[in-house]
Amino acid sequence: MKMMATPRTWCPEVFTDAVGDAVWAPSMHNSQPWRFRHTGDGVDVLLDERRVLTAGDHDGRMARISCGAAAYNLRLALAVAGLPARYEFGAGRTLLHLWPDRPRPPTPVERRMHHQIPNRHTNRGPFADTPVGTAAAHRLSEAARREGGRLDFLTDETALYVVAGLIRTADTQLRTDPAYAAELRTWSIAAQHEVEGVGRSAAGAAPHPGELLTRRDFGGPILDVTRDPARRPTVAVLGVLGDGFDDAVRAGMALQCVLLTATDLGLSTALYSQPIEVPALREQLRRTVECSHDPHLVLRFGYAPRTCYTNRRPVADVIEP
Ligand SMILES: Cc1cc2nc3c(=O)[nH]c(=O)nc-3n(C[C@H](O)[C@H](O)[C@H](O)COP(=O)(O)O)c2cc1C
Repeated sequence: MKMMATPRTWCPEVFTDAVGDAVWAPSMHNSQPWRFRHTGDGVDVLLDERRVLTAGDHDGRMARISCGAAAYNLRLALAVAGLPARYEFGAGRTLLHLWPDRPRPPTPVERRMHHQIPNRHTNRGPFADTPVGTAAAHRLSEAARREGGRLDFLTDETALYVVAGLIRTADTQLRTDPAYAAELRTWSIAAQHEVEGVGRSAAGAAPHPGELLTRRDFGGPILDVTRDPARRPTVAVLGVLGDGFDDAVRAGMALQCVLLTATDLGLSTALYSQPIEVPALREQLRRTVECSHDPHLVLRFGYAPRTCYTNRRPVADVIEP
C-alpha cells in the first residue's frame, strides 16, 4: 500500500491564509500591533513595536493582549487546515513560537469558532436590556478557562456600579492627559484612516454622561440622550494568573476565545480597558472582583443590532520577510 506523506509544517499558502484570519483580531484603537514570520519549521507571532501606543499603552500590555488575540485566530486557522499548532512563549519581540502538532481533522468546535472570526466585532451601539442567561455565561467562563484565563461576572449590583465608576473615572483621567487625547484622535474618526483606527461606521455615538458604562470617545456624534437602556448590563472582568509579558499574551488568547464563543452564542461584545490603563484604578478593580487573578480587560456582553466593522491592513504588510 502506498503511504501518504504527512506534512511536517505549514506550506506558505496555509500560513498566508492563517495570517489573513489572525489580523481580524481586536486591538487597542485598531492599531494592529502584530507581525508574523514563517521560520521554516514553524511560525512566530511578533510584536510590532512601532505600533505600540506610546501615550495610551506605556508598558505594551494592551499591544500584547492584542497580539495574543491574533495568535488565537492563527492557531484556529492552522487547526482548521488540519495541522494544529503547539506553542511556547518567546523572548523580546517574538511573543510566541508555534510549531506543528500531529495532523488531525479539526474538531466541530474549532470549525465553529473559526467560522465566527469574520463575524466578531466590537459593538459600541446601544444594547438591549435583556440579560445574558446563566448557560451562556457558563460557556463564556469555560472559554476563558480553556485558554488559561478567568471570567468573573459582576452579578452583584454593588460591584457592577463600582466597576462602572472605575471605568468613568479612568476615562476622565485619561482624557485630561493631552498626549493620550492627541494619540486617541489620530486613531479616531478625525484621522479618516481606511485600513486601521476606528472610523465613523464603528465609533458609535460620543459617550453620553448618562450612560452607565462610559465608552471610549472615538469622535462619534454627540446625542441628547443615551440610547443604551440597559440598567443591569452583563459585565465581566477577564483575568489571568500573573502580570508579566507572557501573561498579557495569554490574556489575549483567552479574550479571543471568549469573544468568538460570544459571537457563536449570538451575543454582541464591547470592551473597556480604561481602568486597566490607570494603575491605581486597576488595583481597585482587582480588589472589587476579589479574585487572585490579575485583571486584563472589562467586557460587556449582550444583545444588540449589528454595527459596522473596522478594516485591516493588507496581509502582506504584516508578514515578516
Ligand atoms: C486590549 C484591547 C483594549 C481595548 N479597549 C477598548 C476600549 O477601551 N474601548 C473600546 O471601545 N474598544 C476597545 N477595544 C476594542 C478595539 O477598539 C477594537 O478591537 C478595534 O477597534 C478593532 O475593531 P473590532 O474589534 O470591531 O474588530 C480594545 C481592544 C483590545 C484588544
